[in-house]
Amino acid sequence: MKTRFYISTPIYYVNAEPHLGHAYTTIVADVMRRFHHLLGEETYFVTGTDEHGDKVLKAAKERGMGPKPYADLISQAFRDLWPRLDCSYDRFIRTTEPDHVRVVQYILQKVYDAGDIYFGRYEGLYCTGCERFYTERELEDGRCPQHETEPELRQEDNYFFRMSRYQQWLKDHIEEHPDFIRPERYRNEALAMLRDPLEDLCISRPRSRLDWGIPLPFDSNYVTYVWFDALINYISALGYPDGEAFRRYWPYAEHLIAKDILKPHGIYWPTMLKAAGIEPYRHLNVHGYWNVETSKMSKSLGNVIRPLDLVEKYGLDAFRYFLLREMVFGLDASFSEVALVQRLNSDLANDLGNLLQRSLTMVRRYLKGVPPRSLPSEDPEDQELREKAEEVLEGYPSAMGGLLFHKALMRIWDLIGLTNRYIDRTEPFRLAKDPAKRRRLEVVLYHLVEVNRLVSLLLWPFMPRTSSEMARQLGVEAPGNRGDLMRLGRWGAVELGGELPTPKPLFPRVDPVQAGIAEIGGQKPPPPTSKESEDKGELDMAAFQRVDLRVAEVLSAQPIKGSDRLLKLRVQMGAEERQVVAGIAQHYAPEDLVGRRVVLVANLKPAKIFGQVSQGMLLAAVHGEDLRLVTIDGEIPSGAKVR
Ligand code: MSP
Repeated sequence: MKTRFYISTPIYYVNAEPHLGHAYTTIVADVMRRFHHLLGEETYFVTGTDEHGDKVLKAAKERGMGPKPYADLISQAFRDLWPRLDCSYDRFIRTTEPDHVRVVQYILQKVYDAGDIYFGRYEGLYCTGCERFYTERELEDGRCPQHETEPELRQEDNYFFRMSRYQQWLKDHIEEHPDFIRPERYRNEALAMLRDPLEDLCISRPRSRLDWGIPLPFDSNYVTYVWFDALINYISALGYPDGEAFRRYWPYAEHLIAKDILKPHGIYWPTMLKAAGIEPYRHLNVHGYWNVETSKMSKSLGNVIRPLDLVEKYGLDAFRYFLLREMVFGLDASFSEVALVQRLNSDLANDLGNLLQRSLTMVRRYLKGVPPRSLPSEDPEDQELREKAEEVLEGYPSAMGGLLFHKALMRIWDLIGLTNRYIDRTEPFRLAKDPAKRRRLEVVLYHLVEVNRLVSLLLWPFMPRTSSEMARQLGVEAPGNRGDLMRLGRWGAVELGGELPTPKPLFPRVDPVQAGIAEIGGQKPPPPTSKESEDKGELDMAAFQRVDLRVAEVLSAQPIKGSDRLLKLRVQMGAEERQVVAGIAQHYAPEDLVGRRVVLVANLKPAKIFGQVSQGMLLAAVHGEDLRLVTIDGEIPSGAKVR
């Protein structure tokens, strides 16, 4: 039987514009959907907006609008955002849709008829931010842990759902299905909530107090409590009870939420489903919270991050990559633009972008742009590379399926790193100079193109645009069809060939200073050497030690207009990138330099040469007319000190 995959995001409240947190959840859902699609599964992706309740009514009033026009406006902002983040949902659901309203009333009636809804009096502490009553135990210093506000005491006659009746069933279900709620820390939290007797759930609000909701089918003086209404979206979106989509997808349901709404999803929802005679969902996937630097993201702190601002500034794929790479699923993470730029420059521009650029530039230069047909590996270096690629392919499904997105990306980057080193070790630029080494050159370039092709496939769920752009430049079919992981995800799965287009950089580097997020590094000039030893031409040890020599990796090189001697290089020195002007144009072709690890005098005062800033100097051996750069033998990372 073919497996299917149904993924949902929370339906977001329309009391605020979409922000980074919403974007993260929806992007993760999209990544999961794309991964399952690559696996060959039929997928269904639902997101939407939660539009009833006190909170939304209040926000509408603040804007001087009626709740429906206000909800229309904000709901549209969410709906429009997702395609711009390449999140391709199948169904966008709103709780104000007549179809949803009908399903909520249908379920209420069903549960009522079964005797699981009763009328009673309730007094409790209510947080309007969360739209729920809190038990004393759940509060922190008498305050709501989410909103840090004191809940209000409310006493009301209301309808109640006999949640307590299903407590034991739920406990057993969680125990028998260890990954029903995952990761484990949230499963444990849910079990802890079930340790004390569950109170019944108040599921109505008197209409006299709140009119903005779905009327109870059995008492029109009351509207449905917002959570009872909202959770049902997960099945109304599939056309419950008779819809074809419900039949096809509900058995494969996976919800994705953050830890803030664990209780409604981990406790209320499964018991509601049980009472309505519906099978529970398959998995509840719970992620942590994004903080901004070290604080909570909040309107009042004025630090709310708007996804489109970042996308405009740094590009969509850099944003998607950063979110998935930086957060360990289940744990909190901290957002900072500086960290995003660092990842963009080092992982995307430097590691990934460079690998593609170097590989394709060499195919163009040495093989007239036509990549070699599949060639068996010969040397241990080739074997090592292929084995690494195969190992990454093999581990990918379990990392992705187990929500370890950061790990899947780390492994892909291990492969990228190894491949960049493979270029340094096999030195195709040297092989190209020797006609007798032609076949070896082709083998090396075949390996390079093949790794790039596989990387493009594995990156598709994370960065669909980059993935297709890589495929375009590699002259292979863009991934993204159902089942592509099986079809294309093997070494040598497709025959390469055909002339490639001109290579284009994947990710432009971002200068943190220009991006307005860093200050120009205050480099201290070295103290002057003593006059006496200078006269003798000697250098004392202390003076020599002040020279900061560092390993730097050449990222790109280009001639300088008007000079036949100078090249302008961009080099990576640890986390930092620099521009260096070097008088080596007569000794090295620019493309032969890319990827080399050279030695940089890193604490020279920046100088301007031919109108270009040079932040350092390269060491080279000079003999008569000859010049050879000092390079690093072996695997030392850039930024390492040279002593
Ligand atoms: N309307 C309810 C959900 C009903 S689902 C049946 C709701 N809406 S919400 O707009 O507040 O969205 C909460 C969700 O937004 C979180 O569970 C999470 O998915 C996302 N995030 C909001 N802020 C977040 C962070 N700071 N970090 C990570 N995700 C967060 O609750």
